[in-house]
Amino acid sequence: PIARIGALAYILRMLDHSSNSPVLPPEIARRRTFAIISHPDAGKTTLTEKFLLYGGAIQMAGQVRAKGEARRTRSDFMQMEKDRGISVSASAMSFDFDGYRFNLVDTPGHSDFSEDTYRTLTAVDAAVMVIDGAKGVESQTQKLFEVCRLRDLPIMTFCNKMDRESRDTFDIIDEIQENLAIDVTPASWPIGVGRDFIGCYDMLNDRLELMDRADRNKVAKTVRLDGLDDPKMAEHVPQDLLAQLREEVEMARELLPPFDRKALLEGTLTPIWFGSAINSFGVKELMDGIGRYGPEPQPQSATPRQISPDETKVSGFVFKVQANMDPKHRDRVAFVRMASGHFKRGMKLTHVRSKKPMAISNPVLFLASDRELAEEAWAGDIMGIPNHGQLRIGDTLTEGEALRVTGIPSFAPELLQTCRAGDPMKAKHLEKALMQFSEEGAAKVFKPMLSSGFIVGVVGQLQFEVLASRIELEYGLPVRFEPSQFTSARWVTGPQAAIDKFVNVNKGHIAEDNDGDVVYLTRLQWDIDRIERDHPELTLNATKEMM
Ligand code: G4P
Repeated sequence: PIARIGALAYILRMLDHSSNSPVLPPEIARRRTFAIISHPDAGKTTLTEKFLLYGGAIQMAGQVRAKGEARRTRSDFMQMEKDRGISVSASAMSFDFDGYRFNLVDTPGHSDFSEDTYRTLTAVDAAVMVIDGAKGVESQTQKLFEVCRLRDLPIMTFCNKMDRESRDTFDIIDEIQENLAIDVTPASWPIGVGRDFIGCYDMLNDRLELMDRADRNKVAKTVRLDGLDDPKMAEHVPQDLLAQLREEVEMARELLPPFDRKALLEGTLTPIWFGSAINSFGVKELMDGIGRYGPEPQPQSATPRQISPDETKVSGFVFKVQANMDPKHRDRVAFVRMASGHFKRGMKLTHVRSKKPMAISNPVLFLASDRELAEEAWAGDIMGIPNHGQLRIGDTLTEGEALRVTGIPSFAPELLQTCRAGDPMKAKHLEKALMQFSEEGAAKVFKPMLSSGFIVGVVGQLQFEVLASRIELEYGLPVRFEPSQFTSARWVTGPQAAIDKFVNVNKGHIAEDNDGDVVYLTRLQWDIDRIERDHPELTLNATKEMM
């Protein structure tokens, strides 16, 4: 049946001459690669679990719960980081649903890891935004949404916890439209609030979906309808709720934009489903929506040319590196988003940065139940490649062509601290540890030109603690982080002679990052403004492309 659906989709696309995107091979066209964005506690873990359940990746609810709870407290978070195996296999999860292959890429939960999150979002084609029906759009949701907006990612919204007291449906929709400046179209409409919530009217398929309060794991009962006036309605919906539903749906149809796949794919319209993840309600409808309306694998920006997913040659890029899964072996897994082609295990790919061939003999595909050797992968898939440090964030792999994927930035850190080893004799060890974390993307490491020691930059305070604990755990090296005299870092670019001259007269402010690029450190925005004024030939950059 999978092949048949794929073939049918293929024929329909062939007939659709209005579309100017390439017609993808069925195996690629059925892939949906996405992430979930949400504020902590909105229900991301619970929803993920139900996805896996319906995707046949787990047999029973409750198997991924531990992760959500572990995330909640700081000490447990550290414990989870120690237990790297868990976080790795949860970094990407693949499962099949209704003929589609879903690749769900996990976004780090804590607000401190925004850069990591940003890079994760470069590896997906769409995002599911989960909000709590009682709380609406919360701060972390807003931040993550903004990151999605930078890439015009299509967004599908799931309004969760409808089994509890929730806000008025129009209020929730208004809030999303106003706070996030995106049009919202209801894919379903809730019937009743809180204790009286009985289910939803499926506006896209003209169906009634009824929640089973007695059994949390039971999927909703579906009643096919012929419009809102269908007499079957009255058999299932109490009179007062039915009158309210008809009135609200009529208003919604008048006031809100209709569903439009093109607007969804362009990132200007988000369909919203109402449900309750814990009660397994609304989840299948959402999955159905992701499959039917969500984007196929998209073209990847690269230089000197864009990569199209339908190209027969294989290519992919590293968006995340996780190191020291086993401290004894110092191994790393590079997470690669496949950008084109059909990869088969054992293939030799070119590591474009070093121009060296790499035999990819033991790639890992993240089928949620456990890690499995990947025999093959298609454009859109996420593959883990164990390596000893050759693969870095931003690296491109191809079948030989010198393509470099673009758009994976490194941000200037917002917090800088000096890092010292407890034992001064261990400075070399410390350098090695810091370099490795910087390659992993966990921190920026700057070596000041004049003073000894290292300046470490991160985006959130918690990262210093995580780093200190990992350096001690993985390298047996106690370290101290101390306040630095600097608060901002900027990468300096421009003609080499101008950079050299600038470096010479500002030595006390200059450092090198781990690629040897010149960085200007300061504590005053005023300094940055002055340099930009006095040295128009130089640029002080707050971001740097990783490649
Ligand atoms: P997160 O990953 O986004 O942080 O959220 P998570 O799924 O861990 O859910 C946060 C809390 O919300 C959990 O409760 C979870 O059970 C609850 N929850 C998730 N979906 C729903 C829903 O549809 N309705 C209701 N009423 N609650 C929901 P908890 O008390 O923190 O944990 P637990 O005791 O339930 O395990």
